[in-house]
Amino acid sequence: MDQPNILEAQKLTKVYEDGLCALDHVSFSVKAGEIFCLLGDNGAGKTTAINLFLGFLNPTEGTPFINGIDVTKDPLAAKQHVAYLSDVVMLYPNFTARQNLDFFARLGGRHNLKRDDYYNALRQVGLQEKAFEQRLKGFSKGMRQKVGLAIAIVKEAPAIILDEPTSGLDPKAANEFLAILHQLRAQGRAILISTHDIFRAKEISDTVGIMSEGKLLAVKTKAELEHENLEKLYLDYIQGKVAA
Ligand SMILES: Nc1ncnc2c1ncn2[C@@H]1O[C@H](COP(=O)(O)OP(=O)(O)O)[C@@H](O)[C@H]1O
Ligand SMILES: [Mg+2]
Repeated sequence: MDQPNILEAQKLTKVYEDGLCALDHVSFSVKAGEIFCLLGDNGAGKTTAINLFLGFLNPTEGTPFINGIDVTKDPLAAKQHVAYLSDVVMLYPNFTARQNLDFFARLGGRHNLKRDDYYNALRQVGLQEKAFEQRLKGFSKGMRQKVGLAIAIVKEAPAIILDEPTSGLDPKAANEFLAILHQLRAQGRAILISTHDIFRAKEISDTVGIMSEGKLLAVKTKAELEHENLEKLYLDYIQGKVAA
């Protein structure tokens, strides 16, 4: 059966106050059980698109939907259906791993979780047990990313959005991170990722959207990419050698 669209961008457009058009009529959707990767150089508009989904910015034109909810009309309801990880993970350094989970789960409307639920989520993402009750301030970036993913797990949000999640992770941490993403996909989450890394994009995604200067130039499925050289395709698109 066809999966429902959990994230949907309809002609998303953002012109910043200074007149810069950071996003120009960008449309795409992410289904349950799909990893969709926005691939583009710095300044392509990836973070702008993500910030529109999270309601951090208002679109100049177009609409972001999360689980069918128009984010511009009902941002609070929409936020209950999404878990978000930025490249600088926004967690509390003075809280322990478990306290961070508890805090964000409650913020996301889940008030009935027990210590074991938090521990199970932290185990699922592979955080070492001795770190469960330690404050985050001594954690590596890889460990903080794991706590961020554990929050996505306990929040049971159908959508997960990650902005440049693997930047700054060492190869081992990045691999562990990708394995967890694949587990979340297997649970039927819709996952939207941004990256400037072509190899990661190809490795992680079911679908890659190639972005440049605010435009979504192409959307390619994994099957399509098996027969194409993504690096060449990407460069051809951003250099305007292929008509978008
Ligand atoms: N708050 C802002 N005000 C004005 N311009 C911005 C703002 N945020 C981002 N931009 C510009 O919008 C464009 C897209 O930025 P961004 O969405 O951060 O791209 P990416 O995440 O792909 O690197 C860039 O040219 C950037 O300088
Ligand atoms: Mg960015």
